[in-house]
Amino acid sequence: MIEVRNVSFRYSDGTEALRNVSAQFETEHIFGVLGQSGSGKTTLLNCIARFLRPQQGRITLDGQDILSMPETDFRRRIGVVFQRLHLFPHLSVLKNMTLAPVQTLGLSEAEATDQAREMLERLRIPEIADNYPAQVSGGQAQRAAIARGLMLQPAYILLDEPTSALDANTTEDFAHWLDELHENTNFIIVTHDVLFARQVASRGIYMENGRIVCAGSIDEITSDVAVSPSTSLENA
Ligand SMILES: Nc1ncnc2c1ncn2[C@@H]1O[C@H](COP(=O)(O)OP(=O)(O)OP(=O)(O)O)[C@@H](O)[C@H]1O
Ligand SMILES: [Mg+2]
Repeated sequence: MIEVRNVSFRYSDGTEALRNVSAQFETEHIFGVLGQSGSGKTTLLNCIARFLRPQQGRITLDGQDILSMPETDFRRRIGVVFQRLHLFPHLSVLKNMTLAPVQTLGLSEAEATDQAREMLERLRIPEIADNYPAQVSGGQAQRAAIARGLMLQPAYILLDEPTSALDANTTEDFAHWLDELHENTNFIIVTHDVLFARQVASRGIYMENGRIVCAGSIDEITSDVAVSPSTSLENA
């Protein structure tokens, strides 16, 4: 389980992006992180991914402070698929996938390639193995980025706005696809897309102005949001 306790984060220009945030991400659920633009969703994910260091509070993974974990161990257990961290454009999908296992797990190129092909087969996208990122669709690129993340068999994968490049049909497909993977991997998904959140997540948090103003089942959260994003939640 990932536990965030009383975390505050302030950017160097003084912006208070997280204000005393506490949340628990249990492994039984896919979590949706919702909230208006600028509410602190990406900042929270970056803190959990250890790309940002909160000035206050603590984040633990299975009881262990994430800041005390060795880098390789940490990166193996929490994977990140952020929009800005896309596939390397000069490498095929397969090469994108074998890079980390070869470098951090010490697999041979041949072993890693076998595993990557198996993974793509399992994820039902074997046909894109030898394509370069520019030669696949937005939905395939998104799946390929997740496939790459899965190569290290992390306990969690954090996703930031994974559906922003997808149309409604592809989004629904993608939701089912993530749900199948959930058996082995836990997902925390930042999204603006309430429909997608309802399709994929069972629990969620709603953020506003650096605070979590609502946490619970995804249905509860999204029905509040649908009624009125600011008033109903502020009074909650
Ligand atoms: N590098 C930065 N330096 C200073 N302020 C930042 C930085 N990145 C984000 N912020 C500010 O921190 C706050 C939270 O931003 P964050 O990116 O976490 O929001 P978000 O909920 O992910 O928004 P969006 O839905 O638009 O992606 C905002 O006020 C934003 O302007
Ligand atoms: Mg964001």
